[in-house]
Amino acid sequence: MRIDIISVLPELLVSPFEHSIMKRAQQKGLLEVVVHNLRDYGLGKHRQVDDYQYGGGAGMVMMVEPLSNCIEQLQVQRSYDEIIFLTPDGKTLHQGIANQLSLSKNLLFICGHYKGIDERIREQYVTMEISIGDFVLSGGELAAAVLVDSIGRLLPGVLNDETSALFDSFQDGLLAPPVYTRPSEFKGWKVPDVLLSGHDKAIEDWRYEQSLNRTKERRPDLLQK
Ligand code: ADE
Repeated sequence: MRIDIISVLPELLVSPFEHSIMKRAQQKGLLEVVVHNLRDYGLGKHRQVDDYQYGGGAGMVMMVEPLSNCIEQLQVQRSYDEIIFLTPDGKTLHQGIANQLSLSKNLLFICGHYKGIDERIREQYVTMEISIGDFVLSGGELAAAVLVDSIGRLLPGVLNDETSALFDSFQDGLLAPPVYTRPSEFKGWKVPDVLLSGHDKAIEDWRYEQSLNRTKERRPDLLQK
């Protein structure tokens, strides 16, 4: 999969993909993330990318022309399964969206800044609008990084058996059960006996019960679905 990201702050999108699972996904050739600096498409001597909003009001708006030029230049090279604008008024990200997007070949993300982007970009190019939660970030970059990570780890071959996404919270509609590692006792705090019992079936049942209880307690809304 290839993910292109348009941003006015490309520096924010370096480190998130240079470590751990995202790094490995790219090294294995399963994921390619390419960040494009919108400033390169900016207008005039100052490479302007934002301007005052019509109708007045505080805050700058990202201009239609640089974004349009950038998107169309990228579209010459490949066609995108989705053009996604990261925005707090988009659809809230959940595991199902990440699962669905992980089946794509090419994705294009647009990171907003300031007051937002000229509405005509949303009307003419954007096919999907995603929020990572009901709060406002300074820009779309961190949201884009979250979305790339949630998709990238689902690509076949990225995770090994140990880290398999099948056992993640949400993947079966339940939260994940508690986990423990050595030592089996620390300051008198003990690991549940069943996990040391070696009885696979008992362990599986315990984990399921823990998942169910945790979900009931913390996220009863998930059980309704
Ligand atoms: N940009 C600013 N806030 C955001 C959010 N919550 N989700 C996605 N993009 C954003």
